[in-house]
Amino acid sequence: MKRLLTEDQLREGVQRLAHEIGDSYAGRPLTIVGILTGSVVLLADLIRELNLPLRVGVVQARSYHGATTERGELIINSDLMPDIKDRDVLLVDDIFDTGHTLVEVVAKMRELQPRSIRSLVLFRKEGRQQVKHDPDFVGFSIPDKFVVGYGLDYEDAYRHLPYLAALEENEINDHPLDGERGAG
Ligand code: IMP
Ligand code: MG
Repeated sequence: MKRLLTEDQLREGVQRLAHEIGDSYAGRPLTIVGILTGSVVLLADLIRELNLPLRVGVVQARSYHGATTERGELIINSDLMPDIKDRDVLLVDDIFDTGHTLVEVVAKMRELQPRSIRSLVLFRKEGRQQVKHDPDFVGFSIPDKFVVGYGLDYEDAYRHLPYLAALEENEINDHPLDGERGAG
């Protein structure tokens, strides 16, 4: 694994985003909605940097095909989300890759008639986007590598790493949580 961003760099990036959000919303109440599961680490750190009247909720988006980044049908579960009608909403995700997840979740949330909806991602992979829309707030542009840590997983592993790392080619076919069964 190759480290791309240290814990300190990530903290500075999150603080920078928090300042941008603070300037944009200028004291207005905000509802932040994190996309599960990848945004949990970012969400926890970001909300503690914000000095605004804040509601926090989550929405689950998962691809029917599971762990890969190939496109499958996206299943969006908004049962855990607070009421967003007439509220200013900021949707938060870990990474903007093809962009389909964020675009589809934004479309689904618009049906609930928020007053405004904007989006934030911590990482944006260079040269991967297949959608026209860009997130309103972006923490870091990163190279087109498969990355893990700070909420991002490979086969459900590595989310807890406090730094961001890129997996090497030979690590990508391993099943990291299978223990002695090893690579497969
Ligand atoms: P998109 O719909 O292609 O933008 O992909 C968004 C989702 O794919 C993210 O929320 C992640 O769950 C996952 N994803 C994309 N790239 C990576 C990566 O490099 N590492 C881990 N997960 C990723
Ligand atoms: Mg995700």
